[in-house]
Parts: sequence; structure tokens; C-alpha cells
Amino acid sequence: MRLLILGTGGMAHQHAKHFAAIPGVTLVGGVDVDPARVEAFGKVHNIPRGFASLEAALAWGEFDAIANVTPDSVHYATSMAAIAAGKHVFCEKPLATDHGKAVEMTEAAEKAGIVAMVNLTYRNVAQLQRARAIVQSGAIGKVKHVEASYLQSWLVSKAWGDWRTESQWLWRLSKKHGSNGVLGDIGVHILDFAVYGAGSDIDRVFCRLQTFEKAENNKIGEYELDANDSFAMSIQLENGALGVVHATRWATGHMNELRLRVYGELGSVEVQHRHDGSRLLTCLGPDAETGTWTEMECDPVPTNYERFYAAVQDGKTAEPSFRHATNLQKVLDLATVTDTDRREHAVNA
Ligand SMILES: NC(=O)c1ccc[n+]([C@@H]2O[C@H](COP(=O)([O-])OP(=O)(O)OC[C@H]3O[C@@H](n4cnc5c(N)ncnc54)[C@H](O)[C@@H]3O)[C@@H](O)[C@H]2O)c1
Repeated sequence: MRLLILGTGGMAHQHAKHFAAIPGVTLVGGVDVDPARVEAFGKVHNIPRGFASLEAALAWGEFDAIANVTPDSVHYATSMAAIAAGKHVFCEKPLATDHGKAVEMTEAAEKAGIVAMVNLTYRNVAQLQRARAIVQSGAIGKVKHVEASYLQSWLVSKAWGDWRTESQWLWRLSKKHGSNGVLGDIGVHILDFAVYGAGSDIDRVFCRLQTFEKAENNKIGEYELDANDSFAMSIQLENGALGVVHATRWATGHMNELRLRVYGELGSVEVQHRHDGSRLLTCLGPDAETGTWTEMECDPVPTNYERFYAAVQDGKTAEPSFRHATNLQKVLDLATVTDTDRREHAVNA
């Protein structure tokens, strides 16, 4: 598979590293609107061609698939152009900035018959895959309650860089720059973590969003800091379980931490994914009587990068697909609506 990497900023390095390690994948080109960035990227990853626009790369055309690693607001136009040219697309999350655009992208991809997948990264966590298998095996019985959180602290700590001075962080804080805040950025990850682990989609949602004062007049240069920093959501799953999902960039002491607890009528599972490792804990069968938790070992699972490559070989889209990401996008859009009208909404009304 000849791969073009579109957008050569921070996350693109992960794509280049992971795809280059897959036998059968060749990185043939990079594209960035910033010529210095694409040139430096090409040197680091030994990529022979660099382009200043997707149009120029499509005119050349010598590739099978694109990894779309542009900012959120750029995913729609660029993915649609690649789909129209018959290229397979592995797009970064969130798939689009709203449900309508995500639907268009999904329908265009399905009509074109290309492979269209989204990098919901935490599917790569073996402990999450194992937790889902346990839930689906019936070992915890009927799921009653779910707790999921995604905690980051980059508004507090400079461990990832300084958001006050670096454009790569500032765009994430500004609606005009295409960001839907913590909800659009990591909300999609934790919703996917929750529904995938609990084995059920979301039926009803209510969400509160909060944007805290961060700078004088809440503005730095051209960036208005108006995108949400924290959200707290209540959900009901299609399987009837009740749940809470929350995320924030203000979680001092938590670098990048996802946690999921799924409670059933016979047992429970807990997945912890932190910057320093992942764990799966279970409380099953007689352990329910003593509240005893056991850590389970998990074998590595294929990454999304490997799954995308395999899907292109099969000629058939696999999960996480554009369609799944579109369903999550609907929940994200509704979450914003519920914050405004302060009442719960049904997802499939
Ligand atoms: N899956 C994950 O865990 C994960 C982690 C981080 C970021 N992301 C996602 O990856 C995407 C990129 O994030 P990032 O952190 O690399 O951002 P970034 O700002 O570091 O990089 C984006 C790059 O795209 C370039 N670009 C902008 N418009 C372009 C266009 N029209 N054509 C070509 N290049 C263009 C920019 O010049 C920049 O170099 C975002 O959608 C983000 O949400 C996903």
C-alpha cells in the first residue's frame, strides 16, 4: 500500500512511525500547507516527495491511500477530495466538526467503495479489547451502570508544551479555528472507549460544558479562547444501562488518563489507561461477595494502523469505521444542544 500523509504536524509522526513499521506499506509522500514542515518531516521519515497541497498530490496520483492528519476543521474537505479520487482514507478523529458533514463523508466513502476508517486510538489498548470480550461473554451479566473519564492536565502543566505560546495548542482552544474544545477533541475518544467497552451504543444524552477564563479578555493574539475545557455527561445506553462520562484539560496530576468501569448484575470490569501503562481489573463470580479485584494480563492487539492496512488488502472497511465515528459525532452534537437547552435528548429520535 502506497501511503500519502496529509498534514505533517505533531500526530503525523505517530502515523509515519506506525505505518512505516508495517511490512507492505510504503510512505510515498507528505503534504502540508507549511513547506518547511513537510520538508523536515520528509527528511525524518525518509519520504521521497513533499507537496504544498492535496490537489498537487492528487494531480500526481501515485498512491493508494491517505492518512489524514490535518486539523479537525480540515478533515471534511480533504477527505471528500481523496474519496472523489478513489483513494482509501484513514482519518484522524474527530471525523468532522459536525454530524451533517460526517454523514456526507460516510455516504461518499460507502458509495465510492473505498476503505474509510477513523483513528480512534484507544482501540489499540489490549485491556479495552479484553474488557469488551468479557462483557460480551456475559460474565458480568446484564450491564447496569457505566463510569468513564478522560483526564488531561495540559492547561495546568507544560509537560506537553506551552499552550499560551504555541499555535498547535491554541487552535484547540478556539471555536473559530475549528475546535469543539475538550468535547470534540477527547470527548470522541472517551465516548468510543465507553460504548466499545460496554458493548452498547448511546440512546440518550445530557451534557454540561464549561469554558473557564484563561487569559486577559479570554484571547491570545488571533485566538479567542472560547472552546470548552471540561464536560460532564449523563447517558443511557441502548442496553438500558445508565452512565456518567466526563473529561477535562484541568485534571492536575493526570497526564493523559482514560478510565472505564462497567458494572453488571454478576460482576464488573475496570480499564485504566495511563501515560505509564494500562491495566484491566475484574471482579467476577464469588469475588463479588468480598469486593476482590484481580488484574488480568492481556496480549497485544492489532493497532488501527494495522487494521487499516489489512482492510485495504481485503477491500472492505473495518472498525473503527467512518459510520461508527459518525454515530459518535451525533452524540457530540447533541451534547452541545443539551448544554444550551438543559434537557436530555434521545439520540435516535
Ligand atoms: N488519535 C489521537 O490520539 C490523536 C492525537 C493527537 C491529535 N489527533 C488529531 O490529529 C489531527 C492533527 O493534530 P496535530 O496534533 O497533529 O495538529 P498539528 O497542528 O500539529 O498538525 C496539523 C498539520 O496539518 C497541516 N495542515 C493544515 N491544513 C492543511 C491542509 N489543508 N493540507 C495539508 N496540511 C494541512 C498544518 O500545517 C499542520 O502541520 C487533529 O484532527 C487531531 O484531533 C489525534
